[in-house]
Amino acid sequence: MQTKKKSKHTEVFEPFNIIVFGGDGDLALRKIYPALFHRQIDGQLLCEYNIVAITRKNPKDSSFFDDLTKFLKESTNELDIDKDIHEFSSKIQLIEAPEASVEGYKNLSEYASKYPNYQNIFYFSTPSSAFGPISKALKESGLVNKKSKVVLEKPLGYSLESSKSINEEITKTFTEQQIYRIDHYLGKETVQNLMVLRFANNLFERAWDSEHIDNIQITVSESLGVEKRASYYDNSGALLDMVQNHLLQLLCLVAMEPPHTLEAEEVRNEKLKVLRALRLFNKKTVQSDTVKGQYTRGFANGKEVQSYLEDIEKFNSKTETFVAIKTYVDNWRWKEVPFYLRTGKRMLKRYSEIVINFKEVRHNIFPSKEKLNNNKLIIRLQPEERIELVQMTKIPGPGGYRYKPIALKLDYLDSFKERFPEAYERLIIDVIRGNQTLFMSQNELDAAWTWIESITSNWKASGQTNILYEAGTWGPGDDILDEGSTWITKTWKE
Ligand code: BG6
Repeated sequence: MQTKKKSKHTEVFEPFNIIVFGGDGDLALRKIYPALFHRQIDGQLLCEYNIVAITRKNPKDSSFFDDLTKFLKESTNELDIDKDIHEFSSKIQLIEAPEASVEGYKNLSEYASKYPNYQNIFYFSTPSSAFGPISKALKESGLVNKKSKVVLEKPLGYSLESSKSINEEITKTFTEQQIYRIDHYLGKETVQNLMVLRFANNLFERAWDSEHIDNIQITVSESLGVEKRASYYDNSGALLDMVQNHLLQLLCLVAMEPPHTLEAEEVRNEKLKVLRALRLFNKKTVQSDTVKGQYTRGFANGKEVQSYLEDIEKFNSKTETFVAIKTYVDNWRWKEVPFYLRTGKRMLKRYSEIVINFKEVRHNIFPSKEKLNNNKLIIRLQPEERIELVQMTKIPGPGGYRYKPIALKLDYLDSFKERFPEAYERLIIDVIRGNQTLFMSQNELDAAWTWIESITSNWKASGQTNILYEAGTWGPGDDILDEGSTWITKTWKE
């Protein structure tokens, strides 16, 4: 394939086949192939490789290549891209595998036998209930060897027990070193920058503890509803879909101790310690420190939108589409510092950010005694990627000491003109390269599930119900939350 410019990359990976189960599914078309496509046109895939899309349908009846072209086009602003798309598509084989068995994988085995020295990267983009049977059939088909890797998409189960049992099935075929559990938030540029911000600067780390920080808020607000994923979402809800993975991983990066190096084991161990230190909920604290909600009809992006129940066409669903949690990391560094986690669908706008709220200055020396706002470090993950440090600044003029909070801003787009690779691009390259740093270990997953289950079991025990909120708003409002849950609105609304 031709690349548009001379490649700036020099690292040559070992030849590979990437074999995508659920290969004609939404995630594969929206994220996986566009990620490989962009790495290809950027000139990073200097080795030989093939992509295999596993489908259950007869390839003749499939609109796969039309769909692929559409999604690849949507993934770029470049107009002169047809030739690249054509060349990239020619690397993809659509192979039918009607069931997970040696017989079902006959065509795949035949294909793979043409590339005996390639590393096989199996990408499971299917419901996690299929992971065990697929692994078993791959092993029995003789398709797995020491070089093989497997990428697992979330959600990995729906409870501690189911996650463990899925893992047991997979580890009959793959070792922990061969397993890459993906959380795409860890591949986001600003999330990566969080590591650099904390550990490549001297300034922040010195004030990164309960002595200096009042509270930390992690928010992922989405304006979209559940779209076409009703049946999946209704079995998960906001807690399992977003908090169990993405928000907890962000919390880990904010709260962890500096790892000794960036080696996968070092980073994962530090994250694990945070997850294990999360304070578990009981019947009482779940009621005072968590809120769940579900959206009703409203307006989103200027259009009238349906309620969650109408979206999923199931009128007795109790699934939450919003959740807010106040939690603590019970260790020396974070003693009694609240971490507020919030996420919801059909909110007023799409934005994700981490806010570090510092404590007030110890003593106000200024005569007016006007309130001195706390310093804030705001790490905006999306839609625009930005870092702001809010500090008190003197208002110019001879009128004495008057001050107001002003932000020092670092806008990623202004500082770095190049295109930012999507999270999936970085993560897939790390799989090919064999670097597990940005992937979760099973121990992390177990610890996350233990904490999540302290919420789900106590929601059940206490009979906690959803607070309804109008679509296109900031979620459950002050009127309801002020009683006993004032914390929730602290800086939720901008
Ligand atoms: C996915 C969730 O993991 O993350 C979705 O299943 C959610 O429900 C999505 O919309 C959010 O990802 P991003 O990158 O758009 O913030």
